[in-house]
Amino acid sequence: MNTFDEIVARRRSIRSYDETKPVLKEELESVIATALEAPSWDNAQTSRYHVVMSEEMKAKLRECVAPQNAMVSKGAGAMVVTTFVKGRSGFKKGEPVNDLGDAWGSYDLGLQGAYFLLKATEMGLDTIVTGLRDADKVRALLEIPEDEIIVSVIMVGHRSKDGVRPKRKAVDEVAKFY
Ligand SMILES: Cc1cc2nc3c(=O)[nH]c(=O)nc-3n(C[C@H](O)[C@H](O)[C@H](O)COP(=O)(O)O)c2cc1C
Repeated sequence: MNTFDEIVARRRSIRSYDETKPVLKEELESVIATALEAPSWDNAQTSRYHVVMSEEMKAKLRECVAPQNAMVSKGAGAMVVTTFVKGRSGFKKGEPVNDLGDAWGSYDLGLQGAYFLLKATEMGLDTIVTGLRDADKVRALLEIPEDEIIVSVIMVGHRSKDGVRPKRKAVDEVAKFY
């Protein structure tokens, strides 16, 4: 499982984790280091990772996410809250450069997110990105500064059950060539 296509095929959103298999801090550092290689607006690198690994803190974070995602996170070694610093990516001298404003920070975070997921897969880890969370509760729990916009919670662990690949659109449904 080494070629890019094999890694892409192996990555699935995993909703069942093996609690007996730990995730190491060093593994997560390696995954985040790869994510940092992604491009970003003017190399702004505004993406941030709040990595929750202790059982006590994971239990508290579970109370800040949708119940179905709390279930999914059981057995995952880490819950990673992703954020980005607002007002920088897509901004010049404090003003948005164009219509997208802070959406560029979210775009950069998404690019890092893809690197994050695929590097984790290459290392034998499994993931799921979740968007259903209470940002205010997450901010309070982890004391995330107000200048960071909270985006997703990514669970990282070892699968105990494979995911099913949802059907993808055909290229000609989404791409127009000029
Ligand atoms: C931004 C984002 C938010 C998501 N939120 C959730 C979620 O809250 N709960 C969940 O079970 N899956 C969530 N997913 C996973 C998607 O349902 C999944 O990626 C999609 O169905 C495709 O399946 P695959 O990842 O296995 O290819 C999310 C994915 C993304 C990218």
